[in-house]
Amino acid sequence: MKTAGLEGVVAAISEISLVDGNKGHLVYRGHWAKDLAISYSFEEVAYLLWYGSLPNKTELHEFGEILKANRRLPDYIKTIIDNLPEKMELMSVLRTVVSAMGTEEYQWPSTTEQALSLTAVLPTVISYRYRRINGLSPIEPSDNLNHVANFLYMLKEEQPSQSHVKALSAYLILTMEHGMNASTFTARVIASTQSDLASAISGAIGAMKGPLHGGAPSGVIELLDEIGSKENAEDVLRRKLKGGERLMGFGHRVYKTQDPRAEALRTITAEFSEDDPWFSLANEVEDLAIELLNEYKPGRKLYTNVEFYAAAILKAIDLPTELFTSAFTSSRIIGWIANVLEQNENNRIIRPASEYSGPMPE
Ligand code: ACO
Repeated sequence: MKTAGLEGVVAAISEISLVDGNKGHLVYRGHWAKDLAISYSFEEVAYLLWYGSLPNKTELHEFGEILKANRRLPDYIKTIIDNLPEKMELMSVLRTVVSAMGTEEYQWPSTTEQALSLTAVLPTVISYRYRRINGLSPIEPSDNLNHVANFLYMLKEEQPSQSHVKALSAYLILTMEHGMNASTFTARVIASTQSDLASAISGAIGAMKGPLHGGAPSGVIELLDEIGSKENAEDVLRRKLKGGERLMGFGHRVYKTQDPRAEALRTITAEFSEDDPWFSLANEVEDLAIELLNEYKPGRKLYTNVEFYAAAILKAIDLPTELFTSAFTSSRIIGWIANVLEQNENNRIIRPASEYSGPMPE
């Protein structure tokens, strides 16, 4: 089939993001995503993706307050979560909760109030479920912390450090949006039928749950664990490359130059490298790995990918691996919503064709 996987097919004209793997460009609404990740907050970039421009002080304040006001889980949602089978995967829990939030008020066209409500609640669901399953009492959201700091606070029950908030925030900003990926396409298809936002987002979570999309950077975590300290780095990396193994966290199917997301995360982890041993180890391993990849795989255009620094950051904040894909979901919901809102503005049902290759009746 000519369009297997719809590769290269343009499914929407969008003002939300540009991904150019050859040039190493990732643009959110006319801004370099890497600059946004370094200098702006989760709230500011979410606002930009939804409304098309960065907020002024008042707009930002209002946006943040509405998010805060929507963080608490309604009692019926707590009851649902508590009654789900203990072995149910966290992504399935998220999908179920978002679906259950889609009450009669959720009608097409979707509103930003609904968007704020679903966005606000995801970190609370993640931490509530995680703590319940692990025999810990859930922590109520803090009204004094921003979206990302509160997420860390609800997981650990302690005030997070500034460097961890900054690094996680940058990671979440850089994973908010990435063109017409599988889950974003899913959200747009559902929205195009004039279905509601909770349906579009629960469908998108279903798409994200598949390992081909929402895969976790566990390979890089294993690599960093194996290296352990910078003294071991050269031996471990050389052994892997000599044995024909791939270095996890390097190379990318789309980015054939520096992945802008990795560049931004490098800048932030380098800035805070004195605060966290994983940040400094990641910076040192990256330099050495690039040098060795050039030696063992010359001319292959292998650069660091976003998973490399994602792993270092998730390790530094000590996020349990089973929460990785859900944490990614808590940022990608911003992109899904931006796409649903854009689809609603100028809607036409998405209904591609298929080419029949079966037999004809006699
Ligand atoms: N380490 C060592 N060598 C590598 C690596 C790597 N990480 N990546 C590619 N190569 C080599 C291949 O062995 C191959 O060498 P050869 O020409 O001697 O056969 C050459 O580079 C080209 O490799 P391909 O597999 O054709 O490159 P492709 O662009 O298809 O692969 C991929 C991209 C799958 C990400 C690859 O680079 C890889 O396996 N990386 C490691 C896994 C990883 O980090 N995955 C996370 C991806 S990021 C993300 O999903 C957001």
